[in-house]
Amino acid sequence: MARKKLRVALVGQGFMGRAHSNAYRQVGHFFDVPYEMETAVLCGRDAAALAKMAATWGWQETSTDWRAVVERPDIDVVDVAVPNVLHAELAIAAAKAGKIVLCEKPLAVSSEESARMRSAVAGLPNMVWFNYRRVPAIALAKRMIEENRVGRVFHYRAQYLQEWGNDPTRPPNWKTSRAGAGSGAVGDLMTHSLDLALWLNGPMREVMAMQHTFAQGRDIDDATLVMVRFANGSIGSLEATRYAVGCRNRNAFEIHGGRGMLGFDLEDLTRLTWFDATEPRDIQAARKLLVGAVGHPYAGNFWKLGHVTGYEHTFIAALGDFLGALSRGERFEPGFDQGHRVQLAVEAIQTSAARGGWVTVEQGE
Ligand SMILES: NC(=O)c1ccc[n+]([C@@H]2O[C@H](COP(=O)([O-])OP(=O)(O)OC[C@H]3O[C@@H](n4cnc5c(N)ncnc54)[C@H](O)[C@@H]3O)[C@@H](O)[C@H]2O)c1
Repeated sequence: MARKKLRVALVGQGFMGRAHSNAYRQVGHFFDVPYEMETAVLCGRDAAALAKMAATWGWQETSTDWRAVVERPDIDVVDVAVPNVLHAELAIAAAKAGKIVLCEKPLAVSSEESARMRSAVAGLPNMVWFNYRRVPAIALAKRMIEENRVGRVFHYRAQYLQEWGNDPTRPPNWKTSRAGAGSGAVGDLMTHSLDLALWLNGPMREVMAMQHTFAQGRDIDDATLVMVRFANGSIGSLEATRYAVGCRNRNAFEIHGGRGMLGFDLEDLTRLTWFDATEPRDIQAARKLLVGAVGHPYAGNFWKLGHVTGYEHTFIAALGDFLGALSRGERFEPGFDQGHRVQLAVEAIQTSAARGGWVTVEQGE
């Protein structure tokens, strides 16, 4: 069957530029989708670096003028992988030009911005790269919760811990200033935890938070701690920091329900911890399931059983699922709606940290 060509313009030639480039090149190998992704234009600021990256990843053209590129009639998809403060302007320009819009997280730097972005893409296919939903072990956790294997949830605990803030040799960059990132650990790291918490455990009613900055003169949070009351009656705690010395990229959660407990840690991403509290007590124990067996999410897409997958597969799977939804005319999640809801939670957290006390989380209906 002839596959429809989708010509992509990717803006951003950094870390995510590479992760997304890989996904465009690989998705057709692992997902049976009726589209052929054409890596058409790579946009950034540094022409020499763009040329090198285009040669490495097979981009047809490069440009240092994203404004001209997003309006080109031969472009179908605009992918936003630049610093957070640029997301809104770029995504809205792409939406005005009628493109399919994919955007990195956090969707925006304020809920006012994310609301405008959500309106701009109404009626257009859209996605936010909350790629961790596509870790097979996390997708399995979602399925087990839906199957009521965990039961009534009591506690939801999430951490997103990195350590690079503690490196005094590291020069400041856009991620360490409000002007570039809008916020610190909360926008960069906790937005992943918030998206997973909302997806796995449902809406949040209210939050109480503290934020802390360790580095002198920095105008954003290096660490954010939050207590949560969820709509389902469970309570939660979330922690995100760039000063968790000893933790490279520990995106982790634990969920304790009446029927069992689930646990995940990205530093051991092929494993899902499962404790079945319905088993006879004398044989109860937490097991570490190796995810990638028959019947597990994405087991049919990648390699043979137990031949593990990694970080890059989460981007390939996000894109594969998005294209599948596109071909069926279905709405994809997470899209800008979900990105906006995460932004509303971020704002409640920031408000609580600034003024103290519990703050209601707006639901964004
Ligand atoms: N999904 C994830 O797990 C994940 C991981 C890391 C980063 N991110 C997100 O991806 C986005 C990019 O982060 P990164 O780590 O790739 O950053 P990066 O610093 O590695 O790359 C940013 C890129 O944007 C380009 N850029 C900056 N200003 C520009 C402009 N005005 N016009 C065109 N290009 C411009 C830079 O040249 C650079 O190529 C951020 O929103 C970040 O939060 C997501």
